[in-house]
Amino acid sequence: MKREPRSPPLHHHLHYSSKKISSFAKPIVYFLCLLLAYSVGYLSSSTRNNNNYSTNNKPPVDHVNSVVARVNTVISNGLITEPDHNNFGAVCGKAVPSQDIRHKILDRVFKGTSPWQNFPPIHVDNLLRKKWVKGWGSKGAVFENLIRKVRPKTIIEVGTFLGASALHMVELTRRLGLDDTKVVCIDDFRGWPGFSDHPRMKDMKMVNGDVLLMYQFMQNVLHANATESIVYMPFSSGSALEKLCEWGVFGELIEVDAGHDFHSAWSDINRAFKLLNPGSAGGVIFGHDYFTAADNRGVRRAVNLFARVHNLTVQVDGQHWVFHITNRL
Ligand SMILES: C[S@@+](CC[C@H](N)C(=O)[O-])C[C@H]1O[C@@H](n2cnc3c(N)ncnc32)[C@H](O)[C@@H]1O
Repeated sequence: MKREPRSPPLHHHLHYSSKKISSFAKPIVYFLCLLLAYSVGYLSSSTRNNNNYSTNNKPPVDHVNSVVARVNTVISNGLITEPDHNNFGAVCGKAVPSQDIRHKILDRVFKGTSPWQNFPPIHVDNLLRKKWVKGWGSKGAVFENLIRKVRPKTIIEVGTFLGASALHMVELTRRLGLDDTKVVCIDDFRGWPGFSDHPRMKDMKMVNGDVLLMYQFMQNVLHANATESIVYMPFSSGSALEKLCEWGVFGELIEVDAGHDFHSAWSDINRAFKLLNPGSAGGVIFGHDYFTAADNRGVRRAVNLFARVHNLTVQVDGQHWVFHITNRL
């Protein structure tokens, strides 16, 4: 009798087919899982964003204001005892003698060489003007008044632009017989967004998005024969001031004239203040735009707050604010 071929047992069938499915379907299953995970993540994040705006129904600026208000409430309730924004550290490095400051900066910033070596580089040579010095209140009487009074060995300027005020200070020190005085200029040489639209800046040249501010400043210094009197740090004011503190570079006269919004001015004044080293005639920190409406009077508010915190009196000389410190606080 012919026997019907036996069908494989059921479990064998299942085993066989699942083996076949698993090898075939594994990549598809992984892919589906991946797709599912991505969709869940995407949906949850877009729901979160929608919730923010739909429940508050406020434009971002109100949202920001409410965050600030909340932080202020927390601070005034004494829940934050030492808020970061008031903490600018306290200890700087051991003081470098004033006659070594220029070398110290050349060593640390320019590998020990003068940045004016082989200046100007070929690619900007015919774009620079022999001399192009523009500033704002850069020759006010305050500069002469303070240099006469303080007779500084080291002047630190935060915010230099084309060098108008720095070069004016060099000229004054020469006239007053302070031949060894050095001016340390700090500027990122970027100006500010849109500054080249300013009518006075419309002739500014640009190379691949670089407005050549630093090169024109260098050219102006060279033209004034002041490369031995001026040394500069082409960085943001915050990082440059912190480094000077760490390296022990102090000055008897410090000018603050970089960012004019409250936070920039507040941070620059606090950081610069650490670098003040009152000599026998005391030390001075001062700056421009106490009276102008630039950046919503941020400078004025920062200066006034600083005076309150440190129990100082704001003196005024022309458009400038001045703090005269007779000894370390
Ligand atoms: C008003 S100008 C300085 C003018 C100069 N004191 C004068 O009277 O000739 C301000 C300068 O600060 C610089 N500046 C603004 N914010 C800065 C920052 N955070 N770090 C470094 N430089 C900054 C700008 O590049 C600009 O050159």
